[in-house]
Amino acid sequence: MKIAIDGPAGAGKSATAKAIAKEMNFIYVDTGALYRGIGLYAIRKGKNPASIEEVVPLLAEIKIEMRHEEGEQHIFLNGEDVSDKIRTESVSAAASAVSAIPAVRDFLFDMQRDIAEKNDVVMDGRDIGTVVLPDAQLKIFLTAKPEVRAERRMKQLAEKGIETPFDDVLVDVIQRDYNDTNRDFRPLRLADDGILFDNSELNFEETVEKIISLAKERMA
Ligand code: DC
Repeated sequence: MKIAIDGPAGAGKSATAKAIAKEMNFIYVDTGALYRGIGLYAIRKGKNPASIEEVVPLLAEIKIEMRHEEGEQHIFLNGEDVSDKIRTESVSAAASAVSAIPAVRDFLFDMQRDIAEKNDVVMDGRDIGTVVLPDAQLKIFLTAKPEVRAERRMKQLAEKGIETPFDDVLVDVIQRDYNDTNRDFRPLRLADDGILFDNSELNFEETVEKIISLAKERMA
């Protein structure tokens, strides 16, 4: 079975997808981490992540691997575990920029398909229901109001000891929404057979519970 969870930044996709995978004994695949790995590499090489000319030649130097250890996904960039290093705000912005480049999306496509072919997966991203797993049995488009998402993001950052003003986080959320939704190639959008799920008024447990019950209905 394949469950696709797409949606904008800060909707709680990864925490939700992870909890669903744990409950259902599926593998959780965070596809954003792959784009983040490429964004990190571009930053390290001093390249402009928004430049096709600067990013595309880097792809030949990059080996990205995804490994699952005790239910946790780890991302390796040329053999280095970068799972923590990809979680900064500068890498978020770089990931969003590189993700608009068609060659980058193609580069990561097979890896995402492969893992879904071999496992029951809950995969989160931006184009999972529309492009990567068009045959997923359940496609959720998880979203919430920008202010709610910024508030959640700010809390997450604070938990990591990173204090960021609300307005800065909100600007970042809105900017990433704009980039991810308006890029020409495979933008973030609701799949024709996807379910629009706004969880602004729901807490985390309610969100997880509701999606699991939808998944069980589809499996029955
Ligand atoms: O889910 P995330 O915030 O870790 O994703 C980082 C960026 O990667 C996001 O701004 C858009 C891009 N992305 C994408 O274009 N397609 C995906 N399937 C996953 C992420």
